[in-house]
Amino acid sequence: MARLELDHLVKKYASGYAIQDVSLDVADGEMVCLLGPSGCGKTTTLRVIGGFITPDQGDVRIDGRSILRLPPERRPTAMVFQRYTLWPHMDVWHNVAFGLELRHRPRKEIEKAVQQALELVGLPGAEKRHPAQLSGGQQQRVALARALVLEPRILLLDEPFSNLDAQLRIHMREELTAIQRRVGITSVFVTHDQEEALSIADRIAVMRAGVIEQVATPSELYARPATRFVATFIGSMNVIDGRVDAAGSVVAGPFRLALPPGVGLSEGQPLVIGIRPEDLILEGPNGTGTPAQVTQVTDLGHYHRVSVDLPEVGSVTVFTDKSHGASLGRATLRPRRVLFYRDDRLIGVTEPEQVPSRS
Ligand SMILES: Nc1ncnc2c1ncn2[C@@H]1O[C@H](COP(=O)(O)OP(=O)(O)OP(=O)(O)O)[C@@H](O)[C@H]1O
Ligand SMILES: [Mg+2]
Repeated sequence: MARLELDHLVKKYASGYAIQDVSLDVADGEMVCLLGPSGCGKTTTLRVIGGFITPDQGDVRIDGRSILRLPPERRPTAMVFQRYTLWPHMDVWHNVAFGLELRHRPRKEIEKAVQQALELVGLPGAEKRHPAQLSGGQQQRVALARALVLEPRILLLDEPFSNLDAQLRIHMREELTAIQRRVGITSVFVTHDQEEALSIADRIAVMRAGVIEQVATPSELYARPATRFVATFIGSMNVIDGRVDAAGSVVAGPFRLALPPGVGLSEGQPLVIGIRPEDLILEGPNGTGTPAQVTQVTDLGHYHRVSVDLPEVGSVTVFTDKSHGASLGRATLRPRRVLFYRDDRLIGVTEPEQVPSRS
């Protein structure tokens, strides 16, 4: 096992920064996901760790020692690439054994390791087959076996399941998590799929335009997104422009809300509020909230997604329990938990008991 530290990494190309000042600590045996939209610098970060790209600035340390001077094959890392790259002319056995042969390990040891790695990814008996004779999912598993067989202290995975169908993807995700926990490898997993990140990561680093915006556990990230970008990137979020009024409350559309404790803003200051769809309480027309209009109800199995027209705001999204039975037409709406953003940064949260209902 190993602790990984990324210290102020910078990589710039003629077209601009691929990564800008990326710092991240990954604990022993931890699985951290790099999550972000296409082009935000995820692969670049991973390749810097693996030694395939030299950063312009910054350092990569494992257990406190810089590995920047080591070539990829001498780093205690193994990488599963974004486009899985098995050698088509080699059978599965040779594909998996390649890294160990390169390291001149004894034949007996290689045989044992390859067999173990193939068992680990659920492909025993596939040794003699060629990549072209395998399904996409099987090829990705061979790619994973090829990385695991090196017994890396740090496993780097670049969207390793991107080409799989939804079901196989979930299956592989569970397999990987089980392997990772059993073997205890420190891992960095790149994905742009938030559900994937939320389901496998101990912590998630959300990246945008070459910068890490927030690093947190999945539940913390969901409950307290630190920036407006993270708030809208993870899950769904209703975002409403607001302003501080003369009484020191926040007026956002038809809502009038107390500022969170400890937050002092002066009259007229603009801010933005964020409310998760499950934190909007939808009630009948005689409820205590703001009058609103239900325009659409979509049955999503265990819950309803409801579109509600809110005066001055437009359409917002509400999730309701199925038993709640939302119906089209007049209703009332009130927020239960509200996030406050100023200059796109989280300044406070009002938890349910702090949101006064409208009189
Ligand atoms: N060799 C290169 N030369 C010039 N620009 C590059 C190079 N490699 C990456 N970039 C740019 O750096 C930025 C980050 O690229 P990177 O591959 O790290 O993104 P990514 O987050 O992995 O995206 P994706 O989700 O699409 O794989 C992009 O804008 C990309 O165009
Ligand atoms: Mg990439």
